[in-house]
Amino acid sequence: MSYPYQIKSFDQYQQVYRHSVEQPEQFWAGIASHFTWKKKWDKVLDWNFESPDVKWFVGGKLNITENALDRHLQYNGHRPAIIWEPNDPDEHHRIITYRDLHFKVVQFANVLKNNGVKKGDRVVIYMGMVPELAVAILACARIGAVHSVIFGGFSAQSIADRLQDAQAEYIVTCDGAFRGNKDIPLKGIIDDALVQCRFVKRVIVLTRTRTPVSMIKGRDVWWEDEIKKVETMGNPDCPAEEMDAEDPLFILYTSGSTGKPKGVVHTCGGYMVYTTYSFVNVFQYEQEDIYFCTADVGWITGHSYIVYGPLCAGATTLMFEGVPTWPDAGRFWDIVDKYRVNILYTAPTAIRSLMSFGLGPVHGHDLSSLKVLGSVGEPINEEAWQWFHEHIGKGKCPIVDTWWQTETGGIMISNLAGVTPARPAHATLPLPGIQPVLVDEQGNELTHEGSLSGNLCIKFPWPSIIRTTYGDHERCRTTYFATYPGKYFTGDGALCDEEGNYRITGRVDDVLNVSGHRIGTAEVENAINMHGAVVESAVVGFPHDIKGQGIYAYVIYGNMHGDENLTRQDISQTVSRIIGPIAKPDKIQFVTGLPKTRSGKIMRRILRKIAEGELSNLGDTTTLLDPGVVEEIISGRL
Ligand code: WT7
Repeated sequence: MSYPYQIKSFDQYQQVYRHSVEQPEQFWAGIASHFTWKKKWDKVLDWNFESPDVKWFVGGKLNITENALDRHLQYNGHRPAIIWEPNDPDEHHRIITYRDLHFKVVQFANVLKNNGVKKGDRVVIYMGMVPELAVAILACARIGAVHSVIFGGFSAQSIADRLQDAQAEYIVTCDGAFRGNKDIPLKGIIDDALVQCRFVKRVIVLTRTRTPVSMIKGRDVWWEDEIKKVETMGNPDCPAEEMDAEDPLFILYTSGSTGKPKGVVHTCGGYMVYTTYSFVNVFQYEQEDIYFCTADVGWITGHSYIVYGPLCAGATTLMFEGVPTWPDAGRFWDIVDKYRVNILYTAPTAIRSLMSFGLGPVHGHDLSSLKVLGSVGEPINEEAWQWFHEHIGKGKCPIVDTWWQTETGGIMISNLAGVTPARPAHATLPLPGIQPVLVDEQGNELTHEGSLSGNLCIKFPWPSIIRTTYGDHERCRTTYFATYPGKYFTGDGALCDEEGNYRITGRVDDVLNVSGHRIGTAEVENAINMHGAVVESAVVGFPHDIKGQGIYAYVIYGNMHGDENLTRQDISQTVSRIIGPIAKPDKIQFVTGLPKTRSGKIMRRILRKIAEGELSNLGDTTTLLDPGVVEEIISGRL
């Protein structure tokens, strides 16, 4: 069975797209009418991109968990909502029906309430990929608390920064998380973060790894004990809090080109409508399909396309605790075979990494259940696209190349599986309701005379657009809405052909995309500079076979005596401690100076070219304070 708003042909796409642009309010009202609202909206849209101030479904009241859970109980309560595959293939998997999930969410919502959490409070969630992570998220939404999930690869310092910025008084975590052959001591990391965050009132700890943890009296409680308490209270219900369509649903931190990560805020109504609509249309989900997104819930992909989008659509979403290469590089294919997965959504970095093991790990697995493949996180290179298409999709599965961002909440530019044409390395066409435009450096809209190349902006709001950056609305304005007045600026460059097909070329700001994760160069530099003996540093990206981009650091080091490699390890450790292992530099080159202009600005363009190995054309170096450093840097290149 399909959905009333599911687009089934290219003609229909063109017709729907035209309608969505000509009459956006009527269009989105039609989509939104397929959801459960406690009170209908008074007005579909209020917006200006100057402040910015965007409101969708103004005056509407709802609770997203009634759409993700309660709505499915009557006819689909017995259907699997979450299939959970543990890290260790020998451990039992779990199948959680919509009825089970509803029960667990209600139960944990009561645990949160018992522990003092109220509507509007911020709750930080720092857990591995266990079903209870989805339960914790939905339980927050149930009572109107604002969740902020932090990816398990972030350090204590990063957690402390986020706790402080969000002023979060509540934390839900696990004793530890299994990832491949590693056991990450999540609660221990939380304890380190909390040394600086005395305002945290409660830490709820789920047992997963049985790693020994220390519990602080009056602050830390066990998930299991708290569940027992609500069980003895008798009343298993927890009515869904009435939320305004524009009340915040969650905060998710993401890196930018300057300063500390910012808390991207998404709201209840628009986010629900857009993630569900895009999920159904991009992947062409049909009832009873098994859908597997390999992302971590700690990133936006997991929020929108493991939890909210699929559950609001009543889909079966597969959640995998482990990593693609453990116990061997056939793990994804093993999972596809075991559960007869129909739709697989993954990242180019995972595909490239699995490609490097050859076809051995693919053989012996029956992948015939697959109908649709998806890619997200960075431009998918042609070679990875072909491998995915041929060896995983056996030439018969459309691949959707989905371009979007934490700030956009949902997929913006993508083909619709089997409905609109796919083209290797192209995200292709905008979804209905999305109005992309390319601009030149001066902000002039480029209009069609052949193919175009420019900076990618969106000129009209869509329901899941970022509303603010938590606690600092001005930062939201300057980052996204001030560069090209009247438009949302994505930070990406793109090409567009005569048919309107987009090809995203990558970030045009100082943001790196490492294994599909966004990392600001300034953030890595700040972390490196924390090392006692580092004088100054500059970080750029370089092409990396598997990660897409690697991190190249040029470091000026105060008198070097010991072993250079030990010093490198030491600097890496510092970055790991300040940000997390995901931000460790791949290469550290020691230099005595950096190429700077007379006004003291580092000329990253030159450093980038050197890191990329493009030594012949470094551009104009005559404005440098000391052109000699360039020679030195080139000769010491790693
Ligand atoms: C940046 C957003 C959206 C979830 C994952 C990353 C890059 C993402 C694609 C794609 C080319 C892509 C962009 C974007 N990106 N998907 N299909 N083709 N580039 O979310 O951390 O917010 O990063 O990822 O550069 O701006 P994020």
